[in-house]
Amino acid sequence: MSTETLTVQLAERSYPIHFSVSATKLKAVVAKLRAANQSVRVISDARVLNAHPNYLAQAGFRDSEILSLPSGETTKSIEYFSQALSFLASQAANRDCALFAFGGGVIGDLAGYVAASYLRGIDFYQIPTTLLSMVDSSVGGKTGINLPEGKNLVGAFWQPKAVYIDAALLQTLPPREFAAGMAEVIKYGMLADIELFKHLEALDGLDPASEELPGVIRRCCEIKAQIVADDEKETAASGGRALLNLGHTFAHAIENVAGYGEYLHGEAVAIGLELATQLSVQLDQIPAGDIPRVRRLIKQFKLPVQLTSELKVVDLMAAMQRDKKNRNGRLRFVSMSELGTAITSEGIESEVVETIWKDAGAE
Ligand SMILES: NC(=O)c1ccc[n+]([C@@H]2O[C@H](COP(=O)([O-])OP(=O)(O)OC[C@H]3O[C@@H](n4cnc5c(N)ncnc54)[C@H](O)[C@@H]3O)[C@@H](O)[C@H]2O)c1
Repeated sequence: MSTETLTVQLAERSYPIHFSVSATKLKAVVAKLRAANQSVRVISDARVLNAHPNYLAQAGFRDSEILSLPSGETTKSIEYFSQALSFLASQAANRDCALFAFGGGVIGDLAGYVAASYLRGIDFYQIPTTLLSMVDSSVGGKTGINLPEGKNLVGAFWQPKAVYIDAALLQTLPPREFAAGMAEVIKYGMLADIELFKHLEALDGLDPASEELPGVIRRCCEIKAQIVADDEKETAASGGRALLNLGHTFAHAIENVAGYGEYLHGEAVAIGLELATQLSVQLDQIPAGDIPRVRRLIKQFKLPVQLTSELKVVDLMAAMQRDKKNRNGRLRFVSMSELGTAITSEGIESEVVETIWKDAGAE
């Protein structure tokens, strides 16, 4: 296997993640698809296209093949889902159409669901442009949109045919968005790889120009690819794909109660990672000394470890009860049996969780 490529092993749905991609390399991919009589379309967002005005043209895409949607979480909606389907249908795109997502997790999730739905499924390719989407959302085939009632309530598992990672695209990413992506990177160290965690500890921060960044992105993709290969549809009774949700039960509650937009997803995840560490200590799974260690690392990457707005414990607990990952009405958490190894834990007393919320600054 080339060091520039990693395969997500899913039998007939296996696919490569290509690293060190550039617009020039993509041009060869697009030309090959055209030569095989496949048409191509791209869904992107206005901010990404502004930041990289020539990238898609250099990669061989024509203007008429690109749908530009507004930037932001509200684009992951029925309205834009419908607009994207009409974009394909109005151009009479057929089953041979290959749909590319050029953007962050919002565009990837939306375009993936469009690809899963249009003509009962067309080929889908990811060109992630945020750190979060490079290390997380572009890999694994979870696609979907939000409803007014909640996030990611509608969707499908639809694996891409390939993922093309060009870390140079991150040069234009706002620092706050880059930091948010680092929360997911730290998460991988905590859930599956203590060596990655130590490597991050030893770094004096990371930025889009850091020479260590491509290696870190690749390691995260390796971890995600392995977990997805073992439990594609998150059906394992314990462990499995659910482990990728370390910190997320807390994070989703924060996002839900604060209202989407107040905290970036990665910021809520950073707080959630700190709280999951506290939970693991409360459950006697890891030593208390791990709390300051995790906290230090999160702060090192300019992320919050405490709530930064006034949220009520009662609301946060109610949001957790609604979490779609709960089973049989019982709170389900991902905790750590040791730093670098995550496990799923059920049947946790709500008093334990309430105390953790209060320590994090909730009222
Ligand atoms: N499918 C999955 O497995 C999975 C996993 C994690 C998160 N998600 C989803 O991902 C979404 C969040 O993704 P995100 O954090 O990438 O957010 P995003 O897609 O909204 O991108 C963040 C912001 O950065 C801008 N941007 C993107 N790339 C840029 C670039 N290179 N230069 C300048 N600006 C750029 C975007 O326009 C946007 O304003 C959420 O909807 C979440 O539910 C999905």
